[in-house]
Amino acid sequence: MLQSVTLRKIEIKLFSILVISFFISLSSCEKDKAAIEIDKQLFDLTKSPSGFVWFKNSDELLAKSTGSGHPQDFLRTRYNSIAATQLDTNGKIIEGTSFPEGSLIVKELFEDASTLDRYAILYKDSDNEFADANGWVWGYINANGSVAVSADTKGSSCISCHSQTNNIDYMLMNKYYP
Ligand code: HEC
Repeated sequence: MLQSVTLRKIEIKLFSILVISFFISLSSCEKDKAAIEIDKQLFDLTKSPSGFVWFKNSDELLAKSTGSGHPQDFLRTRYNSIAATQLDTNGKIIEGTSFPEGSLIVKELFEDASTLDRYAILYKDSDNEFADANGWVWGYINANGSVAVSADTKGSSCISCHSQTNNIDYMLMNKYYP
């Protein structure tokens, strides 16, 4: 009798462990789903090319700078209409600016003069669950849509470099292409 009570207790314990681990796996699955969605959303926003303004008003490819943390040799950067409100008439970022909500900044990274390889993306969306402390969501997505670094990492591999001296709201184009 005593034995079967103990057994029953063990059974209940095992069952609750099972239930708990089921919910843990379910919630991490939810998180993956949200991460997949944000990367897809960033990719969709990035692909529709209308309404963008180019850095220095030029779509010509630039050779990457000495400070670049990006492996590709060439790049060009564009700003959606909201972000473009923070550019001066020369297409450079206004000193000391803070980009408004909805700003999308896309750096196109090219392997060579004609092969687009990857998008580096910054999207200002403070309420987003993947936004960093300054409200930026960081995307790193290959041209074919596959994800290089998910936005769910909240720019952890990007921020230390992008917060170097003379950044403007994390932007480095002005500094390296004066
Ligand atoms: C070691 C430094 C470094 C790291 C790490 C780095 N970047 Fe950059 N990034 C730069 C520099 C420098 C530029 C200016 C253009 C260039 O030379 O590539 C730049 C430009 C950009 C731009 C264009 C907007 C601007 O004015 O800065 C975006 C968007 C961007 N990076 C996103 C990212 C993302 C996303 C990551 C992380 C996955 C990342 N960067 C990691 C150095 C870095």
